[in-house]
Amino acid sequence: MAPVTADPHEFFQTQNAAPGAAVEPSEADIAQGFAAGSNPSPLPKVFQPLTIRGVTAKNRIWVSPMCMYSSQDGFATDFHLAHYSQFAMHGAGLVMVEASGVLPEGRISPNCLGIWADEHVPGLRRVVRHMHQYGAVAGIQIAHSGRKGSTIPLRLYGTRPGFKEDAEHGGWPDNVYGPSAIAYDDGHHTPAEMTAEQIGAVTRAFADAARRADAAGFDVVELHAAHGYLLHEFLSPLSNRRTDKYGGSFENRTRLVREVAAAVRRVWPREKPLFARVSSTDWVEGGWTAADTVALARLLAADGVDLVDCSTGGNDPRQAIAPAPGYQVPFAARVRAEVPEVLTAAVGILTPATLVRDTVEEGRADAVFIGRGFLRNPSLTLTIARELGVNVAWSNQYKYSRTKTN
Ligand SMILES: Cc1cc2nc3c(=O)[nH]c(=O)nc-3n(C[C@H](O)[C@H](O)[C@H](O)COP(=O)(O)O)c2cc1C
Repeated sequence: MAPVTADPHEFFQTQNAAPGAAVEPSEADIAQGFAAGSNPSPLPKVFQPLTIRGVTAKNRIWVSPMCMYSSQDGFATDFHLAHYSQFAMHGAGLVMVEASGVLPEGRISPNCLGIWADEHVPGLRRVVRHMHQYGAVAGIQIAHSGRKGSTIPLRLYGTRPGFKEDAEHGGWPDNVYGPSAIAYDDGHHTPAEMTAEQIGAVTRAFADAARRADAAGFDVVELHAAHGYLLHEFLSPLSNRRTDKYGGSFENRTRLVREVAAAVRRVWPREKPLFARVSSTDWVEGGWTAADTVALARLLAADGVDLVDCSTGGNDPRQAIAPAPGYQVPFAARVRAEVPEVLTAAVGILTPATLVRDTVEEGRADAVFIGRGFLRNPSLTLTIARELGVNVAWSNQYKYSRTKTN
């Protein structure tokens, strides 16, 4: 049967409200029970749009990148379409697609998503197109796992000793590399110290990945420089003992991430934002510190990074962390206060809704990323809106269940 319209995607694009965008409810909506009442004035900032370069997020509650270990050879599948779409359909302002390997050996596990080949673009484009239909900003985190590569996917944790993946199961134990030949711990492969040629190839791979992200239609690219993966490994003196221009001083340890940022910025369109996720501290004496993060944020801003996404840890098993609601927010707040030329996002146990609101309202971050909360409840944006008494649009398909329970 011929479709009713030439392009049904176009049809639904025009039909859908932008779920998650604050709207003043009509009297009819209030009377019919589809809205609780008028919005608070002023509107909580977390539900105010944020424009970065040429891209506007309709709210500041964003889905944090989360590896789903659901790919073969790096390809996006129907899982990724359904998974990322659900957040867009339910109002997330920005959805950051999980860490995607810029090289095959830059994946964490054999089941990680990839963006090292042009063949990956069509599958990603399909995910982006659907998220765009619901007005979500589509981001992708581009990543290299470094010495934490060739490990088992999350679902296999605890089923084998350690985390090493072998060649028989799709791993690349002979091609794990990092700044220095120091393993994360006994459960991970010992990396080979990277040559200057390999460092150059990685930088080019990040730029090529950004070019593919643009071809797939993404609005935002985030560099993964956190959690003990390659770029973080170069930053931290705990994992980087090099004696060449990529190791030693702060300037040398930050060289790779700056070269990557600059290379990406050269190919990534001017109107599109570039983010960088950093681990703001190693939580280990003698490691990367919050003061280092401030200094790096200043340099990255000069290289064209628009937002620093402030996570922590992941580079040393000795890390002493006491996770609690909002425990990483002070790092975002410090960067925001000391480096006004860059925006910041906060992440990590951002609950309850009032903490989400206050983090942005009180200027500790420009936006928040939420991870596990969205896995528990893909409608989290709508839930937070309700809890804060803010009326937001719902997608047309779902809006009649908004407040009525009978
Ligand atoms: C299953 C899972 C996968 C994750 N994968 C990534 C990833 O690909 N990139 C990243 O930067 N952080 C990753 N993280 C960390 C989250 O993005 C987030 O920073 C962390 O879960 C803390 O936020 P939350 O308390 O809101 O979950 C992952 C977390 C989880 C639970």
